[in-house]
Amino acid sequence: MLKDTVVDNATLHDQQENIPSNTSGNRPFKDVLDSNISRRTVMQGSLALAATTFLAPHAMAFDKKDKKDKKRNKKRDLVGFEPLTLADSIADSAVPSISNDYQYQVLIPWGTPIEPNATEEYVGDPSTRPTSKQAAKQIGIGHDGMWFFPEDNRNRKYSQHGYKLSNRKGMLCLNHEFGGNSHVLGKPSPESLEDVRLAQNVMGISVVAINKEHHSEQWNVVASPNSRRITVNTPVEFSGPAANSTLLQNPNGNIPLGTVNNCGSGPTPWGTYLTCEENFNGYFGATATFTPTEVQTRYGLSENGFGYGWQNFDKRFDLSDPDYINESNRFGWIVEIDPFDGTQKPVKRTALGRFKHEAIAIAESSNGRIAAYMGDDQRFDYCYKYVSNLPWEHAIEANMSPLDDGMLYVAKFNDDGTGEWLPLHVDENIILKEHFTDQAKLLINTRIAADLVGATPMDRPEWTTIGKEGEVYWTLTNNSQRTEAIAPNPQTPNSNGHIIRTTDSDDYLGNNFTWEIFILASSTANTEQTFSSPDAAWADPFGRLFIGTDGSQPDGLQDQLIVFDTTAENPLPVRLFTGVSSDEITGFTITPDQRTAFINIQHPGNGNPLLTNFPAKTDGYTIPRDCTLIITRKDGGIIGS
Ligand code: FEO
Ligand code: CA
Ligand code: CA
Ligand code: CA
Repeated sequence: MLKDTVVDNATLHDQQENIPSNTSGNRPFKDVLDSNISRRTVMQGSLALAATTFLAPHAMAFDKKDKKDKKRNKKRDLVGFEPLTLADSIADSAVPSISNDYQYQVLIPWGTPIEPNATEEYVGDPSTRPTSKQAAKQIGIGHDGMWFFPEDNRNRKYSQHGYKLSNRKGMLCLNHEFGGNSHVLGKPSPESLEDVRLAQNVMGISVVAINKEHHSEQWNVVASPNSRRITVNTPVEFSGPAANSTLLQNPNGNIPLGTVNNCGSGPTPWGTYLTCEENFNGYFGATATFTPTEVQTRYGLSENGFGYGWQNFDKRFDLSDPDYINESNRFGWIVEIDPFDGTQKPVKRTALGRFKHEAIAIAESSNGRIAAYMGDDQRFDYCYKYVSNLPWEHAIEANMSPLDDGMLYVAKFNDDGTGEWLPLHVDENIILKEHFTDQAKLLINTRIAADLVGATPMDRPEWTTIGKEGEVYWTLTNNSQRTEAIAPNPQTPNSNGHIIRTTDSDDYLGNNFTWEIFILASSTANTEQTFSSPDAAWADPFGRLFIGTDGSQPDGLQDQLIVFDTTAENPLPVRLFTGVSSDEITGFTITPDQRTAFINIQHPGNGNPLLTNFPAKTDGYTIPRDCTLIITRKDGGIIGS
């Protein structure tokens, strides 16, 4: 019976991302290059230029001056652990599998109480559900992007300034991307406002204090005044060029509330957490006749959304209610959260544009200005970059946000391994000026601005991460609808996805870049290392690249965590971990000493207890719950080694 009521929400979300809304016809590359052409020669030149003195953003998380760590990283192969074999991976899809050199511990499954004094726990009993009030004080569902902020980080001074960062205690910021109605409510649709509030309160963000106990070496949740939940009903504020736009106001006059469908994330050099609003369109629907505008169509808003049904009890999400005509414009942003201030109002940073923000990675140039790399995850959507006008420390000293004052760009990839960052600003382009008149309007309609300047449609840009030499990795998860190959997306259809790496001119700040295909997932078909649909990505400062997958894997595999040595001549994935039936592996973060990694198991079994009961023991009954796994080497070594 349960099986009948479980809606496959991952499929629901995936289907939406797979429906292209880009009708701009931006296909500027008619001359298709052979997909096997190596661009390594192009890259080598630019990497040499890039490998100068600037610090990668990891500097804030790792003590690069730690000589011991450098030695440890040299001692054995960068990626030297015993690979998890295909055979061991597929033996039991109800439980995860991990390399023999590694072990894992479960932390914060859905329903874990987190606020100070919250005690009620939800452990996955299908005969009951938390109330919406309980859920607002518990870890949510849909664990996705996250970041560990070590405790000593709170003074905003980082390792390069000589402060020691904790490897045992800190704040974990965690996105709860989504949970399907059947998983959360035990029924396909909400039947009351209380049902809607429960569905809303299991999503959003958790900021939770955790530490590793000295006697047991186990990680636990600990009480902190800064632990909190942020949901779609939490007051937020807008900042940057579009903050005061009438397009962000409703006739109803309601204040800006909340964040939703928080997918990937990234830390800032000044110690805050950036969360990315991705498929916000799916939570809106209409209770009466609704004809979407051109903009609403481009952002995928529709009468039924993803079938969550919030509009039936919560007018904010009713696209046909004229009182809330601009409510949907309030979503699709990058949102900044202070992990060490539980009273801070989350801030939506409009200068970074409005699209289906998948993730964000920030690089710091040698003069302290920052560049943020961001993907828009939909078939045929784009890669973006934001560059701050001021060095971040100067901006903060002047009481300004480096994320409020800067230039947004969208990527145009040329066939020859070069590319251009096209500015999205009304003062930089006459077509944009004529179309939008002011920058606020442009930013609220970022996707349309990117269409107008001729950005390159990509195969679903997911996460970004900054590599050892300052190169940027972009996961392009797949695109089964690509019928026209272009050099940066050379496969038709692109069933398994690929990873591109780019290097910008002028120390991240320039308008030009070079690019190469790092790997086509299909090149690993029929090998022991096979994988598909790269999604989550994190590069360490020593050349390792960790990739979490999301989507059907080859040869009976479940979604996996794989590791590349990016410094190798021909980097191949090494399998570290595989998850459970129908889950997704996402959310990589790590302690400053690189010995404890955190990953997320998202939508295990899509909520179906007949597929898996993880993290509970297999009993065919208990509802599987999204959770974080803490991964360590059995010998205490560096993660990935
Ligand atoms: Fe939330 Fe595109 O993954
Ligand atoms: Ca993703
Ligand atoms: Ca994905
Ligand atoms: Ca997901």
